[in-house]
Amino acid sequence: MARVLVAEDDSLTRRFIEETLEFAGHEVTSASNGAEAISTISTPGCFDAVITDYAMPHANGVDLIAHAQRVDPMISCIVVTAFRDLDLAMQAMQAGAVAFIPKPFKSMHLLTVLERALERRELADEALRLRFLAPMLERFTMVLANALESKDYETQEHSTRLVGMSDAIARHLGLNDGARSVIRFGACLHDIGKVAVPEALLRKPEALTPEERAIVQTHPEVGAAILADIDTWEDVRLIVRHHHEHFNGAGYPDGLRGEQIPLGARIVSVVDAFDVMRTGRPYQPARSYDWILEELQRESGSQFDSDMVAALLAVMPDEGATITVPPLDLQPERRAAVGRRQNEIAIEAWLRGDTSLIRKPVLPV
Ligand SMILES: [Fe+2]
Ligand SMILES: [Fe+2]
Repeated sequence: MARVLVAEDDSLTRRFIEETLEFAGHEVTSASNGAEAISTISTPGCFDAVITDYAMPHANGVDLIAHAQRVDPMISCIVVTAFRDLDLAMQAMQAGAVAFIPKPFKSMHLLTVLERALERRELADEALRLRFLAPMLERFTMVLANALESKDYETQEHSTRLVGMSDAIARHLGLNDGARSVIRFGACLHDIGKVAVPEALLRKPEALTPEERAIVQTHPEVGAAILADIDTWEDVRLIVRHHHEHFNGAGYPDGLRGEQIPLGARIVSVVDAFDVMRTGRPYQPARSYDWILEELQRESGSQFDSDMVAALLAVMPDEGATITVPPLDLQPERRAAVGRRQNEIAIEAWLRGDTSLIRKPVLPV
């Protein structure tokens, strides 16, 4: 159900639109001229959609759309008109209309166009929300993962370093922004299942007994189970589940081999091993960079995907220095997208004669 404003001076057409919309369950407000319609749109969110005629007394449809967009850029505006005029359509689109319906039209046509416009509005709304939410979510995940690391080893920031190295490899492999984001989350949360492993085992300075090792080795499955309810994180979950698989099939929990192992998990596997060797663990001292290089070469193609070993070495700064973690909360591409949208809104407003959104240069005093 949507709240729709109908602006139409012809009473027969207005009645037809009202009845069509009401029959489909929408809440309708009507106006018989442009000025009356304009006066009903005063606050953002007062309507979901506006369906307007073009030629009306006092103010035309383009004026109404321009006003509606000024008050609430998320209102879906649809023009119905008997004029089949390209210029008019262009004007309406420039003012912010999302659809144009020539008269005469059938009720089904009107409803389909409205439905589509409302869907687009919802998607745009969600995209905007995600642009702001996703960076916060990434930062929160990082905080959570680091908090869990403190239960695990004494090495804080293990997850943060893994995010930096995994992202550098993903970028080196030419992966797109979406895939890189999944890999960052996967790297961040890879050991989240260790919440279920007793601290005494995680901190034990001697080698684990076979029974103890079996308990520790449940952590990829536990981690994947923790994330199972987040539908949109299926790819992240797969990285968590498979980060201890070996390229030759000798790993766990599923004994996957080669490209059966998700790419993100193959990346995290090699950077995880690198970081563990570099920083040491209660049962194993930290190793030198040269020692680690030899180990990685030796395991290349057996424990690790040789392409991922090569990629890690390609992105590694001299002597294995820490890779700077990209600023997760302020990804440049996201900022650029938000900036572009703000620019578009400002330009559209400027085209309508509204200069309030144009930033004035700050002059030095
Ligand atoms: Fe792990
Ligand atoms: Fe780890």
